[in-house]
Amino acid sequence: MIPVNEPLLGKREEELVLECLRSGWISSAGKFIEDFEQGWADYCGRRYGIAVSNGTAALQMALACIGLKPGDEVILPAFTIISCALAVIYNGGVPVLVDSDPRTWCMDVERVKEKINRHTRAIMPVHIYGHPVDMDPLLDLAKEHGLAVIEDAAEAHGAEYLSGKNTRAPAWRRCGSFGDMSCFSFYANKLVSTGEGGMALTDDPALADRARSFRNLCFQADRRFHHQELGFNFRLTNLQAALGVAQLERIDQIVARKRSMGQTYNRLLKDIDGLKLPAEEPWAKNVYWMYGVVLADEAGMDASELAQRLKERGVETRPFFLGMHEQPVFQKRGLFIAENYPVTERLARRGLYLPSGLGLTEEQLKNVCQAVHEVLS
Ligand SMILES: Cc1ncc(COP(=O)(O)O)c(C=O)c1O
Repeated sequence: MIPVNEPLLGKREEELVLECLRSGWISSAGKFIEDFEQGWADYCGRRYGIAVSNGTAALQMALACIGLKPGDEVILPAFTIISCALAVIYNGGVPVLVDSDPRTWCMDVERVKEKINRHTRAIMPVHIYGHPVDMDPLLDLAKEHGLAVIEDAAEAHGAEYLSGKNTRAPAWRRCGSFGDMSCFSFYANKLVSTGEGGMALTDDPALADRARSFRNLCFQADRRFHHQELGFNFRLTNLQAALGVAQLERIDQIVARKRSMGQTYNRLLKDIDGLKLPAEEPWAKNVYWMYGVVLADEAGMDASELAQRLKERGVETRPFFLGMHEQPVFQKRGLFIAENYPVTERLARRGLYLPSGLGLTEEQLKNVCQAVHEVLS
């Protein structure tokens, strides 16, 4: 079976993790944490990094940092992982959904405006499967309405967005460099992985201080066991950060490999009529975190049938996200009742992703394409 994802760990990871073991710095203090935080912030073009235990925690912490209050609304895409909605709910807020753009699969920025009202406090754009959200109009909208922006760049390490594309001085900026805070996951299937892990980035020193405090139970510097706020234990370990530091040293190589895998898939699958391939808008550099495909009507099957037939040929796949409005857990809580998001619904039923891990060989990639051709041609 060709696995949907396999991480690629090298000698350098082994060396740095062993250094932690030998020095005894295995918990949440140690130099690799700060090195990883600063290194990742620098890479993304941000001032401060606050490493946490996973990407969901980063989102939850970021919303706590902007002071989300019970009843505050946060606008996010219907087509995303549940972490985004959970982060809002755990802060007492209300998730408000918008549908996706059918090309990029990211939140349709045009739709965001319709959902803004006097309860809206923040917008959470999510760069889906490695393709950036169209950030300029979204940031303009946030500015116009005084809303915070919490960027979810969990799936978009190294992806880039052409900022100011309608101005005289457009500039490529990395995903994770936008808004008040940006959040990352370093789960095993991410471009940079610490096994489990996450990070929030910001340029605002006050938000960075709040995040460091929230991450560590809101201990007070002067009176350690006195607490003024409800904190979390979201600490990352030095051992995990060591993996991140090792991978940051070869981040350009990692991003180049992912882009080249995506481009090879594009080339080998482009002739299949029934298949829609991932977009790369002229203003975007897609890192193809997961190489997703969407079945057109003429394919004559849905994603679960395609998944089954690829499995029979030794290819593992994963279905696309199920929209937040279709999640039983939210429906049971009376959320999103009678809401419809047709693009999201279609993606959920007709989309899946193919093996995309850094451990995938060229030969495996070609075999995957061969299997897709056999099933669909
Ligand atoms: C867009 C997005 N946000 C948040 C997360 C949550 O990250 P984690 O699994 O590290 O909690 C993920 C996880 O894959 C994700 O894809």
